[in-house]
Amino acid sequence: MSTMIQRYTARERNNHWVVAILFVLAGFSGLALFHPAFFFLTNLFGGGPWTRILHPFIGVVMFLGFVALAARFWGANRISSADRQWMRQFDDMVRNRDRNLPEQGKFNAGQKYLFWSLVVGIPLLLISGIVIWQPWFAPFFPIWLMRVAVVVHALAAWIMILGIVVHVYAAIWVKGSVRAMTRGTVSAAWARHHHRAWYRDVTGK
Ligand code: HEM
Repeated sequence: MSTMIQRYTARERNNHWVVAILFVLAGFSGLALFHPAFFFLTNLFGGGPWTRILHPFIGVVMFLGFVALAARFWGANRISSADRQWMRQFDDMVRNRDRNLPEQGKFNAGQKYLFWSLVVGIPLLLISGIVIWQPWFAPFFPIWLMRVAVVVHALAAWIMILGIVVHVYAAIWVKGSVRAMTRGTVSAAWARHHHRAWYRDVTGK
């Protein structure tokens, strides 16, 4: 086996999976409330009333977990001019012509844009969710604001679900990535191929 490089600590991985599990639970319980086609998902949460009670609490805990995750990964997600160039060469990335692409640090531009869309989207979900949270908070807000919040909540959730579907797909598709978040390590070849600038930083080679 080739040399392995540490990519995530145990704390980072725990934090990631807690948020991932809560995101899926918040998503399933939210979809169950959104449309009758998804109502069967209430079976996972103990029926309709329990789904309605649990959904906002799951959301709040997910938000708190995400704040911790975002703080850990904030610095490594700053957008650089190399990232903008990488986005312009999206075609080379999709066709796996990595050699033509600018060198990437710990995260590539696609990962960074996903990160920043979550940084905007998850607080939007929390704020809009509080505005429509009956019976605790909603009575403090005017009806027009609740109407806006319902739309913002559904739109933000929809965009993030699509983003996370791409995230999961990419994690599986780029061979050798899932182990980064399960075992914490990646092969030297993986690091050199996908994140060459990061590889040089951590190995000094
Ligand atoms: C549900 C299934 C999920 C799977 C299988 C998955 C898998 C992974 C993997 C393998 C990595 C490491 C990628 C690398 O090191 O290059 C990663 C990174 C990351 N994941 Fe996930 N993930 C999931 C859900 C989520 C969710 C729900 C969130 C947040 C709401 C999230 C946020 C992140 C972040 C912030 C990173 C760091 C890279 C970046 O900034 O994009 N993940 N994930």
